[in-house]
Amino acid sequence: MFEEIRFNKIERLPKYVFAAVNEIKMAARRAGEDIIDFSMGNPDGPAPKPIIDKLIEAAKKPKNHGYSASKGIYKLRLAICNWYERRYGVALDPETEAVATMGSKEGYVHLVHAVTNPGDVAIVPGPTYPIHSYAFILAGGSVHNFKLDFDEYYEVDEEKFFKNLHSALNEAFPKPKFLVVNFPHNPSTATVTPEFYKELVKIAKKERFYIISDIAYADLTYDGYKTPSILEVDGAKDVAVESFTLSKSYNMAGWRVGFMVGNERLIGALQKIKSWIDYGMFTPIQIAATVALDYHEDEVEKIRLKYEKRRDVLVESFNKAGWEIVKPKATMFVWAKIPKEFEHLGSLEFSKKLLTDAKVAVSPGVGFGEFGEGWVRIALIENEKRIRQAARNIKKFLNNR
Ligand SMILES: Cc1ncc(COP(=O)(O)O)c(C=O)c1O
Repeated sequence: MFEEIRFNKIERLPKYVFAAVNEIKMAARRAGEDIIDFSMGNPDGPAPKPIIDKLIEAAKKPKNHGYSASKGIYKLRLAICNWYERRYGVALDPETEAVATMGSKEGYVHLVHAVTNPGDVAIVPGPTYPIHSYAFILAGGSVHNFKLDFDEYYEVDEEKFFKNLHSALNEAFPKPKFLVVNFPHNPSTATVTPEFYKELVKIAKKERFYIISDIAYADLTYDGYKTPSILEVDGAKDVAVESFTLSKSYNMAGWRVGFMVGNERLIGALQKIKSWIDYGMFTPIQIAATVALDYHEDEVEKIRLKYEKRRDVLVESFNKAGWEIVKPKATMFVWAKIPKEFEHLGSLEFSKKLLTDAKVAVSPGVGFGEFGEGWVRIALIENEKRIRQAARNIKKFLNNR
């Protein structure tokens, strides 16, 4: 036997905090208990029928079974660009400014891999969707973070954000090359205004860094809120790329379809690295995704309404049960402060207790980094009946403490 060889890269990835809650959940289920599970951001419905029908039709054609195009078939890239034009009035070139990706996570990780030099610094506000930070760690870079501040309505405190950003730019060494933004935000649901992006683009140009914007939850908005795109800002393409996914809007998480658009250099780098790594998504999936983007916004609206209803039922019933929560304006999550009397436990112990005593699984905020401590994330992936049952369990749990 030879001496153990260290795998430094993989060792930089911590054990998933969510695993601790997951293990208890699985053990309880094996013991026959009914756990109401709000812990994952995994949509619970099927993809819309016309999109499945298109997939089947395309899968029956022999010519669609070979290797595909790693950056996506032209028609899909065109549909992506048309989506941006229709929605945001942003013109994009399907050849040089758009890539279809295997879910937005794949595109993000590979972009970061392609453009990060060893030691490069990225700014990622926290709490954060874990891969937003760890993609840089895996790529040999490092992350500087600051706390994302928002008000009681989950609106980002933009003034504070820019103040923190300026401090980060002055403090971090070497000077950060990238900033990651994700609004509507996972896990906090926080939202921003179009003015936020105007200021951000101005700062990025002056301070010379790239912005990677993730709008995975762009369609899941409520009470009249509309998700802005950074690319709506004049000249944003000089410094920014943006990603979107069909996972949430179309219940297509398992299909692995997303895209990234914007800055030609960054998109070129992603296209190039993908051409070395993959042969593209299965062509029938790309054809069905094209049809989804071109023709099925009506299906997105049905999915949005489902989450809106669940959000209303959850917030109202949990409030009645004694857990005070304000309705978020966006995403498929509720980001809830741990009830006062349990604050001392911290989010991991509180989540375990909620699971054991109330049979309700949530994600501990600390799993999204140190700035998530004191909170839990509740995903709207159980139906209204189950949400009401969870509220009854929680009421008992809070009354028995
Ligand atoms: C903010 C955010 N970005 C990206 C993703 C990844 O989505 P996908 O790779 O399915 O497109 C998720 C999934 O939960 C997410 O929350």
